[in-house]
Parts: sequence; structure tokens; C-alpha cells
Amino acid sequence: MALSDAPLLRALAGDRPAQTPVWFMRQAGRSLPEYRELRVGTRMLDACLTPELAAEITLQPVRRHGVDAAVFFSDIVIPLRLAGVDVEIEPGRGPVFANPVRSVADVDRITAIDPASLDSTAIAEAVRLVTAELGDVPLIGFAGAPFTLAAYLVEGGPSKEHLRARAMMHADPDSWNRLAGWLAQISRAFLIAQRDAGASAVQLFDSWAGSLNPADYRAFVAPHSRAALEGIDIPKIHFGVGTGPFLADMRLDGAVDGVGVDWRQPLDEAAALLGPDTTVQGNIDPALLSAPWPVLEAHVRDVLARGRAARAHIVNLGHGVPPETDPDQLTRIVELVHSHG
Ligand code: CP3
Repeated sequence: MALSDAPLLRALAGDRPAQTPVWFMRQAGRSLPEYRELRVGTRMLDACLTPELAAEITLQPVRRHGVDAAVFFSDIVIPLRLAGVDVEIEPGRGPVFANPVRSVADVDRITAIDPASLDSTAIAEAVRLVTAELGDVPLIGFAGAPFTLAAYLVEGGPSKEHLRARAMMHADPDSWNRLAGWLAQISRAFLIAQRDAGASAVQLFDSWAGSLNPADYRAFVAPHSRAALEGIDIPKIHFGVGTGPFLADMRLDGAVDGVGVDWRQPLDEAAALLGPDTTVQGNIDPALLSAPWPVLEAHVRDVLARGRAARAHIVNLGHGVPPETDPDQLTRIVELVHSHG
């Protein structure tokens, strides 16, 4: 089979391949014992920037589960690290910034960094190592959407409601737009590096967009997400959690080929909102990964049935694989989806 005939890419083009494609957000990571073994003694962001390690971790779930795509092992904050921003990932917590960006002066300082100056050598090398081994299995590159990155950067670390970023939009829209516009260019540079090195598709993660109301999403966020994808001429998926109230806006006016749906919204309802020109991706409830197989199996069959309502369907979870997941449950899902026909 040619890479261009891969079920994932056919589904993104709007076809329904004989075998429905399936992959999992966070398939590369802590649910795999072989991942935990490799990561011992290496910090998360250092692992991402060590090409052999990042490539091997990316390939692990493809070998184990037989998924229809690899997703590049990296992180949404990697391009910020490459831009010289002081960021670490604290285990069990998430991205933490030494200098939160809150004032006009903070925004001036960070936006003075030229997004074109990022050294993406380690990213490109890792992507090349991965694609050389993958053959006809596509590699999905990714980046964080400007709002989700800002939710960390303005707060200085993880937060529940992203109050400071949402406040900045209204209190100082000029600073917000400068910051989000710069973040869009940072993420775009990361996407371009992955595309140029061989990624077949990309996913833009706006994981925390669900904390916004539809009007704020449209006015302050969607234009910057569109900018992050500008000129990325390979298939594009856009994903967020809790974006049901403005799901159709996640199409970014047709700029993306597929939209990821979380577990809260049945796929047939999502398909009706998204219309005939968008592939749906999702939306197995990650909570059910810990349920007995017959319970999980019935849920996956329901997701497959509802996915028929869309022009095409890529099976995935509604969000990432929880670290405590038994990886055999993921392998069983892949087998079920592939035998479904
Ligand atoms: O398998 C994959 O999906 C590819 C790799 C990937 C990672 N992060 C690896 C990772 C991807 C696509 C991401 C994106 C990412 N990073 C997002 C968007 C996706 C989402 O889940 O909504 C976000 C919000 C981040 C920021 C981030 N990085 C968080 C919240 C955490 C978890 C912190 C923790 O320990 O709970 C990270 C760390 C991270 N990124 C891990 C992995 C495998 C865990 C690191 C470890 O093994 O300790």
C-alpha cells in the first residue's frame, strides 16, 4: 500500500476506507511499560529533544497496538523551549514557566523573539528517523493552539479555569492579540518543521478551549488558530475538550479536514453540527478504558455506529490515554475497529 492510500489519510480526504482508522491521543506515554523504562532518568522535554529517544517512543505504540497512525512524541511547549523560553514539565503537574507573561512589558519581551529563529534540528531529525521506519503508516505532527499555550504561559503553569488568559482578552485585548498572534507563529514554525521532515498530517490541540464562551472563542481565539495553520498544506485535524457549544467553529471556516470530538457529545450529533465537509475524530470515553472489556466493547460499537453519520470517521478517544490504562485494552479496541468493516 502507498502511504497516500493509508486509511487515516483517506478518511481525512472524506473517503470511508474498508478499514476505519484508529489511533489514540497520548498513545505514546505512560500507559506503556516500555515507555516508562526508556524515560527513567531523562526529563520530559530532554527526551523530546533527543532524536533517537523521541523516535523510539513514537514507534512503540505503533508496534504494540497496530494503530493506523503514529503521533510524534513531543510536547506543545517544545517550540517555546526552542525559542529560549524557560519552561519545564513537572511530572504529574504539567508545563511550568519561570516567567509568566502577564504585563504589557512581559508581552513586549516575549514577542521580541523571532519565531523564524527556532532551531528545529532535533525535531526534524526525530521525524526523519520515525518516518524512515513507519513505511506506509502516517505520522501525525502536532502543535498547541495559541489559547491552550497562553492558558499555561499567562498563568505560569496548569490551572483549572485559565482565568488570567481569559481576563487578558477583555482587559487588554491589544496585548492578548499580540501574544496569541506570536504563539500562532511559534506553533506554525513547529508544524512546518514536522511537515518538512515527513509528517503526513497535523493535529492542532486546543485542549482548554472549552473554558471559553462561543463569542470569545470566535472573537479572540479562532483567528489565531487559523493563523497557526496558515499554509500548512497537509491534512489538518483540530481538537479541543468541552468545545460542544461552538463545535462548528472548530472547522475554522473549512481550514481543517477533521475535527476531534470529546466524550461528552455523541458523534451523530457532532456530525450534524459539523456538516458534510468535515471528518469526525473520536470519541471513546477515556473513563471506560478501565471498565471490563464487554462494557468497553459495547461503547466502542456505539461510537462506530454513531460515526456513520459523518462523511468519514477516525476512531480515537475523547481525550488522552490515562496513564493507569491497561495497554491491552487499547490493543483490543484496535482489533475490534479493524474487524468491524
Ligand atoms: O502520544 C501522544 O499523544 C504524543 C505526545 C504528546 C505529549 N504531549 C507527550 C507528553 C502530545 C500530543 C502532547 C500534547 C500536549 N501537551 C497537550 C495537548 C494534548 C492534551 O492532552 O490535551 C497538552 C495540554 C500538553 C501539556 C502537558 N504535557 C501536560 C498537561 C502534561 C502532563 C503532565 C503530567 O505528568 O500529568 C505533559 C507532559 C507529557 N506530554 C507527558 C507525555 C507523554 C507525560 C510526561 C511523563 O511521562 O512524565
